[in-house]
Amino acid sequence: MCGIVGVVGNEAAAPRLVASLRRLEYRGYDSAGVATLEDGHITRRRAEGRLAALADKLDRSPLAGFVGIGHTRWATHGAPTERNAHPHAVAGVAVVHNGIIENFRELRDGLIARGRRFESDTDTEVVAHLVGVELEAGRDPVSAVGAVLPKLTGAFSLAFLFEGRDDLIIGARRGSPLAVGHGRGEMFLGSDAIALAPFTARVTYLDDGDWVVVTREGCTIRDETGKVITRPMQMSQASALLVEKGNHRHFMAKEIHEQPEVIGHTLARYVDFAAETTRLPADLPFDWRDLKRVVISACGTAYLSGLVAKYWFERFARLPVDIDIASEFRYREMPLDADGLSIVISQSGETADTLAALRYCKAQGQTVAAIVNVPESTIARESDVIFPTLAGPEIGVASTKAFTCQLTVLAALAIAAGRARGTLSAEDERALVHGLSEVPRLAAEALRLEPQIEGLAKILAKAPDALYLGRGTSYPLALEGALKLKEISYIHAEGYAAGELKHGPIALIDETMPVIVIAPYDRIFEKTVSNMQEVAARGGRIILFTDARGADEAGEAAEVTIVLPDMPAAVTPIVYAIPIQLLAYHTAVFIGTDVDQPRNLAKSVTVE
Ligand code: F6R
Repeated sequence: MCGIVGVVGNEAAAPRLVASLRRLEYRGYDSAGVATLEDGHITRRRAEGRLAALADKLDRSPLAGFVGIGHTRWATHGAPTERNAHPHAVAGVAVVHNGIIENFRELRDGLIARGRRFESDTDTEVVAHLVGVELEAGRDPVSAVGAVLPKLTGAFSLAFLFEGRDDLIIGARRGSPLAVGHGRGEMFLGSDAIALAPFTARVTYLDDGDWVVVTREGCTIRDETGKVITRPMQMSQASALLVEKGNHRHFMAKEIHEQPEVIGHTLARYVDFAAETTRLPADLPFDWRDLKRVVISACGTAYLSGLVAKYWFERFARLPVDIDIASEFRYREMPLDADGLSIVISQSGETADTLAALRYCKAQGQTVAAIVNVPESTIARESDVIFPTLAGPEIGVASTKAFTCQLTVLAALAIAAGRARGTLSAEDERALVHGLSEVPRLAAEALRLEPQIEGLAKILAKAPDALYLGRGTSYPLALEGALKLKEISYIHAEGYAAGELKHGPIALIDETMPVIVIAPYDRIFEKTVSNMQEVAARGGRIILFTDARGADEAGEAAEVTIVLPDMPAAVTPIVYAIPIQLLAYHTAVFIGTDVDQPRNLAKSVTVE
């Protein structure tokens, strides 16, 4: 997915464009470029590969100018070369583009017949030429763009920069997201709130079909009929994802792949990327400083996100957590302090046991906070405060993107709690939030392991049983890995705390038993490796998920090692969830089960 940014500012545009593009790296890209106006003339720098290559070029050959557009390109039409990188420019105009211009061939043929010469293989360049033709015919930029947009079919967003107009950029949204950022005497365009975060938190999201004329003073939005229209300005992004499989074979695959984007959306709601702080509503109905403990209840995968959060709340905020499976909690008659905080977690917001747990907590005088994906759900309505996950609709029965978004919200809450309780310094908070802001990119990198994991799934598909091991926050992930595998592939799987292995399950180990070990290189890595050696000594077949350092130190004991990128310890459960989901998914696909609707399971469990 390409990323777009635009600036009509009061300081050098190029470094700002690159800073913003860095935020968009998570979307995935293979080339990048920026264009600015230098003394009224369009100048560009573009580079194949990583953003660092573009930054190097700009270091060697800087661009002046206070107005500009930038782009990270994920190649669709034409190879990821510098020649195909955006911005594309012709006399009078430069353009960046996300999405696809479906009718570009016929448009290009028509333009070539009129003598226009093309430099790239992209669909984007036709847009530059079409606007160029209108400018040559004497139209001003606004009416030129207005004349060209109706000629384009497809799903896309666009941003334009014009020769001689250092007070203007124009954006258009049709199918792909685009937002306007409101600064002080400056204005911005961006693919999402993350791109705009270095500049402003005040954002107006364009509706589909809208196009916008942006100057330093403000913006004028027109709808697709050309009527000037007002869209609200807000501080956060609502998720509006289409409920379709797109290019994917199953909803589960699509939802796994959406994670970089939806985690990004969710993060944008709970952290301030510019200040690197958490950002929760000021009017919370509880005070982190007054709490003696937190009670969490949920079911299935949602419960496992809560189990990860127990480690975070206790470590970051020194706040003890009691966590229960909701079906147990509701009948356990647990004594609760009045005025304490209970957290329920649910994708659907309708799970009967979680709802019953919520009602029990309320009856005990607790404040109830809900982490929910469906904001209109019963659990959302009955809670005192909701922390929405912005995962968008989750259709596959096996929860994937809702889980990582639950973790994202819980991480932000635990950091906010730590800061409020004085157990985290401002510096600690900044480092942790910085780590979180890297998760969308890390998630995208984790998705690139898919071909390797697909190969691995063929081995796993032949096993009758599997064991997942982890320590610390990787322990709930081991439970989640086993749950995912059994529910969609019907292979019997168990998750264990690695240290618990020798207290029983080690009796299962022989040369037929795959043992999936989740062990990022962290402060307890060596302990997990000892447990792994115990498995290796008994002929168990080890599949190790770790990072480069972990692979170096312990990869030899494993039959297969999957190497994830390096990342801060606090975010490993969010990122490592992705290959774990992919492993279950591809195993099930290989076996040929009904991945999106596994037998006997329902997406929303409204009975106990
Ligand atoms: C597993 C899964 C279930 C749900 C559980 C709770 O992949 O999807 O274990 O996590 O049924 O559902 P919600 O989150 O809707 O309360």
